[in-house]
Amino acid sequence: MKTGTLPLHVAIIMDGNGRWAKSQGLPREEGHRVGVETLKKVTRLCGELGIKYLTVYAFSTENWMRPRREVNFLMDLFQRTFEKEADELIKNRVRALFIGDRVGLSPSLQKIMARLEKDTSHCDGINLNIALNYGSKQEIVEAARAVCLEGKEDFSESDLEEFFYTSDSPPVDLLIRPGGEMRLSNFLLWQIAYAELYFTDVYWPDFAEYDLYKALEDFQSRQRRFGRVGGE
Ligand code: FPP
Repeated sequence: MKTGTLPLHVAIIMDGNGRWAKSQGLPREEGHRVGVETLKKVTRLCGELGIKYLTVYAFSTENWMRPRREVNFLMDLFQRTFEKEADELIKNRVRALFIGDRVGLSPSLQKIMARLEKDTSHCDGINLNIALNYGSKQEIVEAARAVCLEGKEDFSESDLEEFFYTSDSPPVDLLIRPGGEMRLSNFLLWQIAYAELYFTDVYWPDFAEYDLYKALEDFQSRQRRFGRVGGE
């Protein structure tokens, strides 16, 4: 790992679980199961490196259109993972926060999510934002509605940001998408306005320490200008 500024906030679209499973002759579900292990590894590594915010896309508002069996499997996997990993998260000082529309999720899952947020609320290590039933366009529309309800018609960018699920996180510095697709899939569209984008063909279950370091080194080699002229 080179020395240089690391991103404060990394976001990841965890893609390629299904194709990884297929490439191994396994059912798609196995890809999701291994995907959980990858998330655990990546969270630990980011925490060790001192990255303060990690936001991951676990389930989008569009993912409900997957076969019912897969949706059920994923919801069950989330529930089991959040229950099982709570102690480990606390031990590693990981603060978990869920972003997205939780009303659309089952009451039992909502309860476990709320408990995990509460049980890790004192943790001062990495902030792990888990996007579940999340859609960025919806987030922006809901925030605009909320600002209007306050009677503010002439509102600013920060007025709107206050109502985002991510209001406690800084803007994203680096967005990583494994799995070979080069699209944003309605993820954090506002928050990535000045993020560096990193795409790799590696499927999420295969995403290893080396791949994270590669993405971080790539980030370090870029010159971020935020709309200004470089080299000043
Ligand atoms: C993408 O693979 C992944 C998902 C739809 C989300 C599931 C993510 C996990 C299980 C990782 C762990 C998450 C948590 C919060 C515990 P895909 O099915 O879209 O793959 P494909 O594009 O190859 O079909």
